[in-house]
Amino acid sequence: MDGIVLLKDDHKLVERLFKEFEKTKDTATPAAKKKLVDSICTELVTHAYIEETIFYPAAREQVPETEEHVLESVEEHHVVAWLLSEVRNLDPSDETFDAKTTVLIENVRHHVEEEEKEWFPKVRKALGRNRLVELGEEMTAAKPKAPSDPLALQSAKS
Ligand SMILES: [Fe+2]
Ligand SMILES: [Fe+2]
Repeated sequence: MDGIVLLKDDHKLVERLFKEFEKTKDTATPAAKKKLVDSICTELVTHAYIEETIFYPAAREQVPETEEHVLESVEEHHVVAWLLSEVRNLDPSDETFDAKTTVLIENVRHHVEEEEKEWFPKVRKALGRNRLVELGEEMTAAKPKAPSDPLALQSAKS
């Protein structure tokens, strides 16, 4: 699968989970909220992992003019990784749980919009279909190797 299509599919999946959180946050049981936020965490960490280990380095190397985007994106991942590390260890009935999750969602939406609107089109143009399919295969194969702890991401330490 084309690597950019794969990344956009991941974005759609987390957006569905975000909408579910927004719709159910006032009525769901603490256990259900915890489960939902755990899946958000798993999906986001896996996604960030394949971007940071495969897609971002390839873009940086092969499309040097987008370097600034890569560096900014890693800093955005950094913020999200630390927010995730707080939320996943928080009791869902804590008064800060919804607020932290909402700020996490806002950060990810902003990040995804920049990737999809400003950056990915340039990468697509420069890399071409064959290279993108190659990257898609590499990223699919790397997904099972993703850590579960957000702080194990490269961006968390940068
Ligand atoms: Fe990203
Ligand atoms: Fe992304």
